[in-house]
Amino acid sequence: MKKIIVNNYEEASSVAAALFAEQIWQKPDTVLGLATGGTPVGLYNRLAAMNKAGALDFSRVVSYNLDEYYPILKSNDQSYDYFMRDNLFNHINIKPENIHLPNGEAKDPAAECAAYDAAIAAAGGIDLQLLGIGVNGHLGFNEPEAALHAGTHLTDLTPSTLQANARFFGDDPSKVPTQALTMGIGTIMSARKIVMIATGAVKAPIIKDLFSGRISTNNPGSFLLLHPDATVIVDRAAMGE
Ligand code: GLP
Repeated sequence: MKKIIVNNYEEASSVAAALFAEQIWQKPDTVLGLATGGTPVGLYNRLAAMNKAGALDFSRVVSYNLDEYYPILKSNDQSYDYFMRDNLFNHINIKPENIHLPNGEAKDPAAECAAYDAAIAAAGGIDLQLLGIGVNGHLGFNEPEAALHAGTHLTDLTPSTLQANARFFGDDPSKVPTQALTMGIGTIMSARKIVMIATGAVKAPIIKDLFSGRISTNNPGSFLLLHPDATVIVDRAAMGE
């Protein structure tokens, strides 16, 4: 696992943007794995600015997002579908038919999850997967548990995640959907390259655990230690400085 230590969030976003631009320049039909949360917003702003300036073309890029609340309407402004349109897709020239997220409106979540993994495989797999990390180590919504799921699945959110995400739902944990559809740890680990961004003092304990080199399902992020091409971009605050 490669570590890049930067001064702050802005630098982390710029370093990540350079890695994503490089990937798309090298392979214009790149299959991206994308993430939500506060962490990727700076990266998405930079990718949108590069697209606007004519420096980065998304016309052949394909994307698969990590996760989505369940159930949730796409029109809900807290859905990840809405978040992605608002923060990235409405500002770049990606084709709507190339955008994929787990469908929070699906009637049959198990069928939706199986179809999602099949679609990723049919697209040739993910070339570059973006990740944030939850304060409890979750990747996507793979929460710390005795056993992790390999494939995309429906999962219950932990109280810690409901609390952490309440800030997006009027600071009321009871308003956060209690379940989500998420790529599994196997789906994530199948990506050819992974870039994780972790910033802010709130992430320092989980990053310390990750950098201890111990792999545990209690910290799903620690599975990155097994990936052949994973880069973790961490700012000084998340390093505990
Ligand atoms: C969310 C998402 C994750 C994200 C994480 C961290 O709940 N499901 O994909 O990485 O929590 O969020 P943030 O970037 O806001 O710290």
